[in-house]
Amino acid sequence: MSDHPLIAVTRWIPDDAVKVLADAGEVRVSELDRPLTPEELRSFVAGATAIVAMLHDRIDASVAEAAGPQLAVVANVAVGYDNVDVPALAARGVTVTNTPGVLTDATADLAFGLLLAVTRRLGEGERLLRAREPWSFHLGFLLGSGLQGKTLGVVGLGQIGRAMAERAAAFGLRIVYSGRSAKPDFAGEFVSFEDLLRRSDFVSLHCPLTPETRHLIGAEALRAMKPTAYLVNTTRGPVVDEAALADALEAGEIAGAALDVFEHEPRVEPRLLARDDVVVTPHLGSATVETRTAMAVLAARNVTSVLAGDAPLTEVAP
Ligand code: DGY
Repeated sequence: MSDHPLIAVTRWIPDDAVKVLADAGEVRVSELDRPLTPEELRSFVAGATAIVAMLHDRIDASVAEAAGPQLAVVANVAVGYDNVDVPALAARGVTVTNTPGVLTDATADLAFGLLLAVTRRLGEGERLLRAREPWSFHLGFLLGSGLQGKTLGVVGLGQIGRAMAERAAAFGLRIVYSGRSAKPDFAGEFVSFEDLLRRSDFVSLHCPLTPETRHLIGAEALRAMKPTAYLVNTTRGPVVDEAALADALEAGEIAGAALDVFEHEPRVEPRLLARDDVVVTPHLGSATVETRTAMAVLAARNVTSVLAGDAPLTEVAP
């Protein structure tokens, strides 16, 4: 490995992380305030030994090829790594890392905040005031749905799903969860995905995006939910079929949805944007100063570990 390897960072990262990287090589950070196009990405990484990638970068064999045979590590600054073709990189001997753990609380906080926002109609209330609409307190005004005594269904009980469940339990919700296997150390009830849809008043998605979970929430799943139920998505947009969601809301098949991630990000299905029973935020799950700094520093440390010939802190299993 070269004495001064090139580390290509595809978009702005906090200074703390740049400092970590600068001890290990020459740091080249994209100056564009937008995702690189596939062509720009390939030309940007040419000659790199390490790539620090964002979740909007598609890192596949063509990117590895463009970087060159010295490419040793791709550090994704996200816990999700559906944007990285891990087998293709592993076949070239490239290590892939992600950033689990450091964003658990921030993301669960946002998921719970979205649950409150959609059930208590916070967006609607705010829009009404900003539109300078006349209003006065009355007992039937902008009534939402209470949480206490109701059931939250957590789809995917990983670190973030569990943290969401802990928040919900503190608010007096019962927890059911679905996933690959029961977690004996967790107090909630393990149920099938179908039972979860049928029984939950609120469904919160925390499974990773894989070929199996793409459109997990489609027309059939939405029809299986209660007409009074709300959907929260803070994982990856394509887990939800947005057109089917808009259809279901229009048909009154569920009561509302709160989305932080979108099927064709950054685009949002216009029919969802037009609805008062939908709350939308622009992929803010981990967006606190502390968390985003911790994510970038963890990614940087993964790079420096691999460049030093050590095992990375958080490697994605090939
Ligand atoms: C992730 O890390 O996968 C989130 O979506 C961004 O914080």
